[in-house]
Amino acid sequence: MRFGHFDDDAREYVIETPRTPYPWINYLGTEEFFGLLSHTGGGYCFYRDARLRRLTRYRYNNVPTDAGGRYYYVHDGGDFWTPGWAPVKRELDRYECRVGLSYSRITGERNGVRAEVLYFVPLGTNAEVHRVTLKNTRTAAKRVRLFSFVEFCLWDAWDDQTNYQRNLSIGEVEVDGSTIYHKTEYRERRNHYAVYSVNAPVAGFDTDRESFLGPWNGFGEPRAVAEGESRNSVASGWSPIGSHHLAVDLAPDEEKAFVFVLGYLENPVDDKWERPGRVNKKPARELLSRFQTAGQVDTALAALRDYWTGMLSTFTVRSGDERLDRMVNIWNPYQCMVTFNMSRSASYFETGIGRGMGFRDSNQDLLGFVHLVPARARERLLDIAATQKPDGSAYHQYQPLTKQGNNDVGSGFNDDPLWLVSGTAAYVKESGDLSVLKETVPFDNDPKDAAPLFEHLKRSFHHVLQNLGPHGLPLIGRADWNDCLNLNCFSDTPGESFQTTGNRTGRTAESIFIAALFVHIAPDYAALAEAMGFEEEARAAREHAARMGETVLEHGWDGDWFLRAYDFFGKKVGSRECEDGQIFIETQGYCVMAGIGVASGQARKALDSVRDRLETAHGIVLNQPAYEAYHIELGEISSYPPGYKENAGIFCHNNPWVMIAETVVGRGDRALALWRKIAPSCREETSEVHRLEPYAYAQMIAGRDAVRHGEAKNSWLTGTAAWNFVAISQHILGVRPEIGGLRVDPCIGPDVEHFTIVRHCRGAEYRITVTNKATGRPARLVVDDRPIEGTLVPYAPAGRVVTVGCEV
Ligand code: GLC
Ligand code: GLC
Repeated sequence: MRFGHFDDDAREYVIETPRTPYPWINYLGTEEFFGLLSHTGGGYCFYRDARLRRLTRYRYNNVPTDAGGRYYYVHDGGDFWTPGWAPVKRELDRYECRVGLSYSRITGERNGVRAEVLYFVPLGTNAEVHRVTLKNTRTAAKRVRLFSFVEFCLWDAWDDQTNYQRNLSIGEVEVDGSTIYHKTEYRERRNHYAVYSVNAPVAGFDTDRESFLGPWNGFGEPRAVAEGESRNSVASGWSPIGSHHLAVDLAPDEEKAFVFVLGYLENPVDDKWERPGRVNKKPARELLSRFQTAGQVDTALAALRDYWTGMLSTFTVRSGDERLDRMVNIWNPYQCMVTFNMSRSASYFETGIGRGMGFRDSNQDLLGFVHLVPARARERLLDIAATQKPDGSAYHQYQPLTKQGNNDVGSGFNDDPLWLVSGTAAYVKESGDLSVLKETVPFDNDPKDAAPLFEHLKRSFHHVLQNLGPHGLPLIGRADWNDCLNLNCFSDTPGESFQTTGNRTGRTAESIFIAALFVHIAPDYAALAEAMGFEEEARAAREHAARMGETVLEHGWDGDWFLRAYDFFGKKVGSRECEDGQIFIETQGYCVMAGIGVASGQARKALDSVRDRLETAHGIVLNQPAYEAYHIELGEISSYPPGYKENAGIFCHNNPWVMIAETVVGRGDRALALWRKIAPSCREETSEVHRLEPYAYAQMIAGRDAVRHGEAKNSWLTGTAAWNFVAISQHILGVRPEIGGLRVDPCIGPDVEHFTIVRHCRGAEYRITVTNKATGRPARLVVDDRPIEGTLVPYAPAGRVVTVGCEV
């Protein structure tokens, strides 16, 4: 069952009913000011840091789920409603929410009044713009009353929901005509305030929540709206809000638009006041002057569209399969940019007060956006590298505002360092910018201890070699990619964090996943070493990788698939000898990606085992059988009920590794079929089962052992976005930048017979036409009318257009 449809020309998903199975959201903002917005107008906004600079309040874990937002209420002769249906939930004659790229447009109509609310954050602006258009669709004149509503958060979102003894006494606002200023704590150490304004005279306003709602009412029945009258309240403590009241006369067929601006402003510390007690409003006035007219809003919206058009033109495909095209051309890169902006901070599953930037996560996210914003990817890489410790290990997370490693979450996740090599290699391949390797970067943010970026990569690589266990395989430390496989933890205290607890100082538990990651990244590492002129290091790296590959085949092969790990006691994890958890997905995907066992046929065998034991109609589960009981020696993985998350859930992040692995062994049909199982556009028709947005990947879909098999959770902020983009665009469609040229090597199976790709890379444009007979690789390429040897198209100078014919 669908709840809407894709409008590919407009690059929108059109939600047709507000009664979706869960709030379906969008992200506003592309630079420093961001908003989360559900299809009914729920959500919140913040400046840069979702915890420390939250502008509006949102209630996670509420009943119903989506509580708090930027609401516009229409009062029409005693009747009142909201265009997004919720929170008032009065039946609408018409409803629609168009989810676009960094904007949403919600339209509701009732009794001859249509209200459309366009929400977006203009480029270069620290504010949301909401344009509310009211239209009288009947033949008689009408007077309606429009009430706006936002509830201010007292900046620190964590403190805001915990420290009531203080917070209920500190709220402060100023009201000046149609402009409301939220200035809690501005009297003391803050030099920032929020503004909420409309470009028209108001009939009234409210800034005190209880005055607006009434003491016993929720957002669905504000007293001021029901009565059609504001209280003109000025908040003093309690909960400051912003509400404007406009009286709007509409002739038959007449339409009127109002521009609301909700923004964040800072003043210099020594220029905070206009006069004692009155905020310096200069920056607010400048902001508001930019959005006074409908024309200004149109111009800003057009600029935002152009921004996306430009960015998305980097990689486009026309295949005739619209589900595939819309993911690759629009929604997947869009989600990759959302992960660039948000990391794992703010979604409807991440509260914005929890996690910082993950070292591992950020490097993988980069794989998905590096082609869209190479310069910003470069900056990001240097930020990440600066948190690396001198011995090559890494803090697991760092804080975006300070860019310092976060000690609370600790370190010792032994896969972390290698992801820096992956991220850097991806950047260099995309940009050709070798200078980044010589960039001086501190260790642990200490400027006295700095070295070229390449030295960081070297320490990453050697960190693995310095930490080998009894079988010559890498020690796992706290965990590897699977945060929940905690083999040195042994926690028996309820509630204790598996990521920071315990760590028996064992040097036994080994990870075959890290071994695969090491072998996979070694050729790139060696190539970067060569580019630096370190021939000996490159040669040694290749030797180490070859040896590690052999070690995996010797000690990491279980007969029909790759083992997952050895635990603290040296016992196998992910083996037929185990009772539960006999086979895991991660090593099957990554070992084959690394080329381990390809020549000997073990790779195919491992992938057949994935098909036979792990694949379901909804994707590939992480392990089987699921752990039924808690295993103290395995950690968090067995803490989840069977079928959810890392305990046999379908982790959409690692499914693409198997897709890529299938292309390595030449089974493009399998690769595409696996992609279709988890791609949100392909799950649209079963939205009642999937339940989350059909335009964003989810981190997890419940596995076959779960009661709710097929149901997705944790949409948007997940490495799933980057990896699926890599799998579908670089390996299945087969176009990927390498150090020496653009690889064109599709592996897609017979049912996509013909497709074209336009790829911009290093300033040149490649127009690639693929005739796919799936008769076997390698593909035959014709570049600018000349057949070439192999599948690597040499890079052309910037400005050139290169045509590539490909037959495979
Ligand atoms: C989450 C984490 C990621 C981890 C994965 C598997 O997605 O953000 O770092 O690799 O879970 O545990
Ligand atoms: C990852 C995992 C999650 C775990 C968390 C702990 O996000 O996906 O299951 O609880 O790490 O930090």
